[in-house]
Amino acid sequence: MGASSRVAVIGASGQLGSDLVRVLAQRYEVVGFTHAGLEVSDPTSVEAALGGQPWFAIVNTAAFHKVELCEAEPERSFQVNALGALHTAKAAQKSGARYVYISTDYVFDGAKGAPYLESDPPSPLNVYGASKVAGEHLSRLASERWLVLRIASVFGRAGASGKGGNFIETILQKARAGQPLRVVNDQLMSPSYTLDVARLLLDLLEKDAQGVVHATNAGVCSWFELAQEALQRCGLEAAIEPIPSSSLASPVRRPAFSALESERLSRWGLQMRPWQEALEAYLREKGHLA
Ligand SMILES: NC(=O)c1ccc[n+]([C@@H]2O[C@H](COP(=O)([O-])OP(=O)(O)OC[C@H]3O[C@@H](n4cnc5c(N)ncnc54)[C@H](OP(=O)(O)O)[C@@H]3O)[C@@H](O)[C@H]2O)c1
Repeated sequence: MGASSRVAVIGASGQLGSDLVRVLAQRYEVVGFTHAGLEVSDPTSVEAALGGQPWFAIVNTAAFHKVELCEAEPERSFQVNALGALHTAKAAQKSGARYVYISTDYVFDGAKGAPYLESDPPSPLNVYGASKVAGEHLSRLASERWLVLRIASVFGRAGASGKGGNFIETILQKARAGQPLRVVNDQLMSPSYTLDVARLLLDLLEKDAQGVVHATNAGVCSWFELAQEALQRCGLEAAIEPIPSSSLASPVRRPAFSALESERLSRWGLQMRPWQEALEAYLREKGHLA
């Protein structure tokens, strides 16, 4: 493999990052950067890790994405999610590389009441969403060959921050422990299986895709429906109670309907499979199904 086939994955030990490292390695020479080796909010750290090297693409999955903490720490939120995008997109531009920024359905406010398309204007409801919109803009401003992938409600083998846990694992653990399950049924979204997102990015890089792309699995569900589907597929008969999000008393406003749909993938002959099929594949990958 030549120098121009090198791809940098930032956030390499994370839920999406770890799958990107293994999937992109099918076609590229992948160099993964963990948080210990690269701090996106620090331009000196970014330059030290990425500067002076030829890259085919730089993929930035790093984020400060705990929405409650983002509300409490807006400076850090913008430093990581917005300025982190600026610094890493500049590094990509300098080396003539494509730049990929991973974004979120939380750029939308949910008022549309139907799946959001790439052409819909963002209108975030919280600090996290606003910092990610800023990150999207700065990616576009700093790099000529930019790609923004919006994903949502992520599940993948490594778990959040590479620590094994995510929403589905929590539900299955609680069900097996006989603990009560109460899950919100009034927030609708499109879940994303990280392995599917990684495979999609492999194809998008191949096709030199640019611009904003919605990269969730197809379809819409509530968190309650996602939990119910996971329990059913695993043959667990735990009782699960649907609850309104108002009963959780979170200080953060969240979109009630943030499902995403792509009006762009078909132009490259690409599509994402339905979330139910992705969930089945995930449960198999994790060994939850025989
Ligand atoms: N998780 C979701 O449900 C969700 C939904 C929509 C969009 N997204 C977006 O998808 C992307 C990937 O999410 P994920 O679930 O894979 O997250 P994740 O598991 O937390 O992975 C993020 C990785 O980035 C690293 N990181 C965090 N802050 C960093 C910094 N300042 N500099 C360098 N590295 C840093 C983390 O390392 P440490 O853990 O060691 O800090 C972690 O390995 C993010 O951009 C997120 O905004 C996620």
